[in-house]
Amino acid sequence: MAVAVFGASGYQGGLVLAELRRRGLRPLLVGRSAARLREAARRADLPETVRVADTADEEALAHAFADARAVIDCAGPFARLGPPVLRAALAAGCHYTDTSGEQRHVRWVLDAMDDAARRAGVTAVPAATDGCLLPDLAARLLSDRLGPLDSLFITHVVEGGTSSRGSLRSLVEGMDDIRSGGVSYRDGAWTEAAPEPAEVLLPDGAAVRTARFPLPEVVTIPRATPVRNLTAVVDADLRSRLSAAPPPAESIAALPDGPDPGARAAQRFTYLLDALATSGARARVTLRGRDTYGTTAVTAVETAVRLLAAPPLPGALTASQALRPGSFLASLSAHGVDHAVSAPAPV
Ligand SMILES: NC(=O)c1ccc[n+]([C@@H]2O[C@H](COP(=O)([O-])OP(=O)(O)OC[C@H]3O[C@@H](n4cnc5c(N)ncnc54)[C@H](OP(=O)(O)O)[C@@H]3O)[C@@H](O)[C@H]2O)c1
Repeated sequence: MAVAVFGASGYQGGLVLAELRRRGLRPLLVGRSAARLREAARRADLPETVRVADTADEEALAHAFADARAVIDCAGPFARLGPPVLRAALAAGCHYTDTSGEQRHVRWVLDAMDDAARRAGVTAVPAATDGCLLPDLAARLLSDRLGPLDSLFITHVVEGGTSSRGSLRSLVEGMDDIRSGGVSYRDGAWTEAAPEPAEVLLPDGAAVRTARFPLPEVVTIPRATPVRNLTAVVDADLRSRLSAAPPPAESIAALPDGPDPGARAAQRFTYLLDALATSGARARVTLRGRDTYGTTAVTAVETAVRLLAAPPLPGALTASQALRPGSFLASLSAHGVDHAVSAPAPV
């Protein structure tokens, strides 16, 4: 029971339980409904070791985490539900990671909770997801290879798949940030100026139009990777799918909980990192995988397991600060996530 899963009764929580079960780990399931937590344990073929606690009661949450040493938080929207869970994890002396894709929450964890995590003697690594952790680690590999970077341009391309109910709720609550594009990183500082649409060439030579989106790696990468300008965008089709007329909050509950196994298996993601070093050298990292939710289950569990096995310095840290980028990325090839460094993309 070293690992507690908060939001274990949700869609992403269920995939995290399945990954823990696959590794022979027996998690503690935490959430607000004993019945739904027991059902989640049964579905994952795990012992029904549950603790009931709501985000409205931090003391009860900390009590629920007391038997654990690390917490994986899967309950979004994180901007609203995340702070009490992190504070309770620290109060219980647990390492912390989460499945947030929300730029604003990730920035809050890293900026506002570093001192508290240090005082608690534990490490908090937000956004252990496919979409944030993978580019964060790959950016560090690029700067290790090329030296300090003058610019880094990241493109997310996701083909197929649908959003889970929790992702839709996070999108609805974060719509103001989605419309504005969130923050960018210019001349060594974060700024509200969003990137302009551009055209990027994919590895197969096809061109893709990009669009602004508040991606979380913009707030993680510059903390461990020396870079002057950082831009992260999504392909324009993905942005339309994520932001076009999201269903009203009350009708999300009637939707399926998330993509079914067939849709997950058919989904493909490609994350491209195009770097220009201050030396003038260029390189591209291509990250490829399938099934964003299944990959997030693997990256979140791997993060928690690594925090427990080899605790880094206490604090609120990015994946690259807390974990060993090369070894972490290499461990993911067994799960269908590949990364390759190549010559620059043609311009
Ligand atoms: N690449 C990425 O960025 C990425 C990848 C994967 C997941 N995510 C994020 O992960 C999050 C989870 O998504 P999901 O689809 O798993 O959501 P979900 O199925 O709706 O599950 C949400 C979970 O949170 C719990 N919860 C909600 N409000 C609570 C409260 N007040 N107190 C205690 N528990 C509460 C729910 O418990 P009940 O069962 O009691 O309702 C449920 O267990 C989303 O924010 C999503 O965007 C991001």
